[in-house]
Amino acid sequence: MSSNIIVLDLYNTLMKDSECVRFMQWALPRLRMRWPGFRKVRGQVCKRINRRISELRLNDVECYREYLQVHQDEWIYLDSLCRISISRFYRDKGVFDCIGNKVLPALAQLTANSGNNTIKCWSAGSASGEEAYTIALVRQFVLSLDYPDIGIHITGTEVDNNLLGRAERACYPQSSVKDLPEKWLSQAFNRANKQYCLYPEFREKVNFISQDIRLAAPDGPFHIVLCRNLAFTYFDISLQKKVLGRIFDSLLNEGILVIGIHELLPGGITYFRPWISNMGIYRKAFV
Ligand SMILES: C[S@@+](CC[C@H](N)C(=O)[O-])C[C@H]1O[C@@H](n2cnc3c(N)ncnc32)[C@H](O)[C@@H]1O
Repeated sequence: MSSNIIVLDLYNTLMKDSECVRFMQWALPRLRMRWPGFRKVRGQVCKRINRRISELRLNDVECYREYLQVHQDEWIYLDSLCRISISRFYRDKGVFDCIGNKVLPALAQLTANSGNNTIKCWSAGSASGEEAYTIALVRQFVLSLDYPDIGIHITGTEVDNNLLGRAERACYPQSSVKDLPEKWLSQAFNRANKQYCLYPEFREKVNFISQDIRLAAPDGPFHIVLCRNLAFTYFDISLQKKVLGRIFDSLLNEGILVIGIHELLPGGITYFRPWISNMGIYRKAFV
């Protein structure tokens, strides 16, 4: 009997794609997000919204729209439904090759010139840690060949506490590590029960913080910030500019910003200059 009710609920609240698109185009700007960023990944957001409409026992998405207008707190919940958490190690291989062969050596030189021995890195929107740990691997397998005395410390920030828990555990399915070179995989991970778990020595220079990039930045200053596939895809332009200002303030002079390869900085920004532009790599400009 109860399973019939669940089926009926899901049936009643199932939105057509066009209804979901209309709803998202209405709701996203109110969350300071932009529809074009969600176009390709809307399926997963629509599924979550459907589930939410069922949970609230509402009839359809129009009722959910009315519900949002009366219950202001629901916007916070909807915001959490609009997070896309796709990530993997060595995502966009060419970018990490550039980071290993050009960016980190330049930063190592800068670090050594200032009498220090640690490059400081911030991975913003670090999901389950894939990007932050990839930097730790690049340091170990590439940078240390020429700069054995230069270490790296990486801070990953993420708003989703479930993902932070996974980042702390540092165990991944094969699909998350499939782009890594075979040698890195065999030397840095323990493979057990179809999971690849990073050895502690690759985790000890990485820490994770629960933090919303719209509101705060971790303690810097940093030599390099990676903000990929987050602000410049999903946030609206005014929020992008605000986040960019926060990143600027967190970077040392001549520090590096890396954005996603399919992303662009908002028009008219002069305080970051393209360095390796087809890889989304920018240098902080003097202002
Ligand atoms: C698409 S993933 C990108 C992960 C990684 N940077 C990459 O490129 O592979 C975006 C991540 O940003 C997180 N996120 C979304 N909004 C955020 C916010 N306001 N502050 C911090 N993290 C956020 C999401 O939970 C998700 O894990």
